Amino acid sequence: MMPQLRVYVPPHPLIKHWLAVARDAATPSVLFRSAMTELGRWLTYEAAREWLPTLETTVQSPLDSCPATLINPEIPVAVVPILRAGLGLLEGAQTLLPLASIYHLGLVRDEETLEPACYLNKLPEKFDPQTRVLITDPMLATGGSIMAAMAELTQRGIDPSLTRIVCVVAAPPALQKLNATYPGLIVYTATIDETVNSKGYIVPGLGDAGDRTFGT
Ligand code: PRP
Ligand code: URA
Repeated sequence: MMPQLRVYVPPHPLIKHWLAVARDAATPSVLFRSAMTELGRWLTYEAAREWLPTLETTVQSPLDSCPATLINPEIPVAVVPILRAGLGLLEGAQTLLPLASIYHLGLVRDEETLEPACYLNKLPEKFDPQTRVLITDPMLATGGSIMAAMAELTQRGIDPSLTRIVCVVAAPPALQKLNATYPGLIVYTATIDETVNSKGYIVPGLGDAGDRTFGT
């Protein structure tokens, strides 16, 4: 059987709560940022399962030696926030992955064509092929931005099956594009919404995530 893109919507009350806060049009920017931080934290916690590299060892407790599992420091872990809105999820992700390298990627959609343009690329020329990558971007709408990000990463040696996407609202067009090209990939999202409107906004969605995060 062909592998399929896996999309997880963790049924967790904290994720549901902060999604509701983020969706609410009356939520001010300062609280919207808190919602993004919390969603980044809890979705990263879920995504870290079977993704963070571990090693088996033994530790000496005050009473006896016992088997133990530690995070493997030899395998690189990277977080790639898609600017601007992906920065909102970064703080929560970083609290759980304090040793991860952060590679910023700035993408902005043209308001007419909805095509993404890259204005900042801090990715290295080549990644260690074992690198675990977590991409943060709250909105997967038409899929143009996440497909551009995945292309930049895979060109530099990243294995899609070692990659996780943490987002808040995912829409079918983006998920279909990811599934067609990167079937081994796994997405963690707070919700899958029904549609993208003619202006490229997810409905019901939460509006413009970048503008709401930064109050612009
Ligand atoms: C938003 C969002 C995604 C993109 C999703 O960024 O953060 O990166 O749109 O849309 P797509 O799936 O149709 O490509 P935007 O271009 O608005 O930039 P911003 O984060 O700076 O606001
Ligand atoms: N980007 C956003 O910020 N919101 C959407 O609904 C779609 C793309």
